[in-house]
Amino acid sequence: MKTATELIHRPRAAEANMINPPIHRGSTVLFKNFEDLTRANAGTYEGILYGTDRLPAQRSFEEALCALEGGRLTRAFQSGLAAILGTFYAFTKAGDHILLCDNAYGPGQLFCRDVLSRFGVTFNCVPANVGADIVDYLKPNTRLILLESPGSNSLEIQDIPAVAAVAKARGILTALDNTWATPLYLDPFRHGVDLSIHSVSKYISGHSDILLGAVTATDRCAEALDHYCRVTETYAQPEDCHLALRGLKTLPVRLKQHEQSALEIARWLELHPAVGQVIHPALPCHPEHALWKRDFTGSTGLFSFTLKQEPEPSKLAAFIDSLRLFGIGYSWGGYHSLVTAARHHRALPSRYDGRTLVRLSIGLEDPEDLKADLEQGLARLY
Ligand SMILES: Cc1ncc(COP(=O)(O)O)c(C=O)c1O
Repeated sequence: MKTATELIHRPRAAEANMINPPIHRGSTVLFKNFEDLTRANAGTYEGILYGTDRLPAQRSFEEALCALEGGRLTRAFQSGLAAILGTFYAFTKAGDHILLCDNAYGPGQLFCRDVLSRFGVTFNCVPANVGADIVDYLKPNTRLILLESPGSNSLEIQDIPAVAAVAKARGILTALDNTWATPLYLDPFRHGVDLSIHSVSKYISGHSDILLGAVTATDRCAEALDHYCRVTETYAQPEDCHLALRGLKTLPVRLKQHEQSALEIARWLELHPAVGQVIHPALPCHPEHALWKRDFTGSTGLFSFTLKQEPEPSKLAAFIDSLRLFGIGYSWGGYHSLVTAARHHRALPSRYDGRTLVRLSIGLEDPEDLKADLEQGLARLY
């Protein structure tokens, strides 16, 4: 069966001949009898113990994502950030050192700086386009490397197999935030990564109506992830898991449209006189285009561009505020197009330092309408 078919036909609803699975809410799950309770107390009961033991919608979503990723075990978290933080907690201990790719989701870096440091875990950033040179940043106590490829603002791509090979040879774990590509357009495990992280809030759910995260582990990491989630009783809301499961079923068709529309708009922007550089990994001008072509099987709807001249703040505001079809807001990956813009700066020197990056999340509107909206907006810049 092809992936799109499999996503639609698994899992099947077990109750009431409904095509969609039911949603259960609640804390208490009743045991059939005292013997089951006794088993639960002894840790040998196989059913669901309690609401925090992951209700059916959560389990179904985790199983579906795990199958799509080709991993051993998936666990859902209350948000993408919670999935990143859960990975840090589950796989590090006092005295360990973490390497974070400099373009990884910013709050993860803040968490390392302000919280993990209090528990004796240190961190450093590595360049956003790091590859085998990651070896120069390793310390004897480096335990975990977090990549995000492409990074969700400046879209640098890492040489994932090269980093994973260096890490593997030294017993270091590699985690990848795979939110941009989704499992459909990048298979992290094929490239040697141990843990695949998603903000399910983006493409997988696809409608900007939930916050949810997930971590999928290979054999090597499955037990530790499961154990961490058990002892912390990590769980996600059943309604959110239900919507995420629904999102998975339409992910292949949505992604194709996001990809096609974003590429059309990116190519059009490349020719626009007000635009400097269009930063989209599937364009040949992208500095790591060759890596994208080698490792990814598609591109999605999030990309950025610089402007030919740095705009006056008031002109930039006039451009952004004039857009009628692009909402001004954080997050991405939904059906509604979004825009953000900011001066780029990072912990390490990077190629767009000091430049304004306009970031577009191309939704499912007709690309002709989106281009017309951008055209009238860009005309207000100079
Ligand atoms: C690449 C990436 N990872 C993780 C997150 C965090 O996800 P969430 O908003 O679900 O916490 C974001 C949020 O924008 C993101 O862009």
